[in-house]
Amino acid sequence: MKLLFVGDVVGSMGREMISEYLPKLKKKHLPDFTIVNGENAASGRGITEKIYKQFIQDGANMVTLGNHAWDNRDVFDFIDGAKQIVRPANFPEGTPGQGLVFAQVHGKEVAVINAQGRTFMPPLDDPFAVLDDLVTEARKRTPIVFVDFHAEATSEKQAVGWFLDGRVSAVIGTHTHVQTADNRILPNGTAFMCDVGMTGPYDEVLGMNKDSVIKRFQTSLPVRFEVPKTGRKTLSACLIDIDHKTGKASKIERILINQDHPFMTEY
Ligand SMILES: [Fe+2]
Ligand SMILES: [Fe+2]
Repeated sequence: MKLLFVGDVVGSMGREMISEYLPKLKKKHLPDFTIVNGENAASGRGITEKIYKQFIQDGANMVTLGNHAWDNRDVFDFIDGAKQIVRPANFPEGTPGQGLVFAQVHGKEVAVINAQGRTFMPPLDDPFAVLDDLVTEARKRTPIVFVDFHAEATSEKQAVGWFLDGRVSAVIGTHTHVQTADNRILPNGTAFMCDVGMTGPYDEVLGMNKDSVIKRFQTSLPVRFEVPKTGRKTLSACLIDIDHKTGKASKIERILINQDHPFMTEY
């Protein structure tokens, strides 16, 4: 089974990259299951129902979120009724949405879990304890378990990777918006990389207008970050090969589509 995962889609430029390149990526790599992180899809902050539906229409089978999950109030109106969206699992009991969602693929089930780190991030429940419980629950139904671990610190991401090695098919980091080159298969068969990277504005700072980010660093004043609507774009993703019987991963490749990267010419 091949699984394609596209990292944090930022604003309208990120959505344009999904509409333009997701069908091309799917045609080229023929993934059985496609996951898109959409936590920044609505102007950099959160997601709307319309955007969620567009991702599904463009070819996503599941949408994951992160610390920006709640930034657009629209999410509260649709998340409980949406079957292909996962929010960080380690929010308190009673939080809308689900942190573990199952989907059917060619008669098999895929479990998708989203969890959020706690290092240099807002306080949440212990992701290790929550992941331990949810992975146990997921594995009662399927060995194919994908974890989007949304966190800031590479140490916390590596720790989760090792913690779950052999129990899940993949632990892939999101949130830092810069693709890391540490893609590997851990010894017990879990595909891992610290961050898959982002999809959206290419010539900015993590997808936010670079001038406002520079200004905030210079002044420490609360400058509002705007998400540009025009300019060069990038798409960051990874492709994972998983044995559908054991759930173990055998290969993980990085994908970058932008003008500095040779892969762009392939699409
Ligand atoms: Fe993000
Ligand atoms: Fe984030």
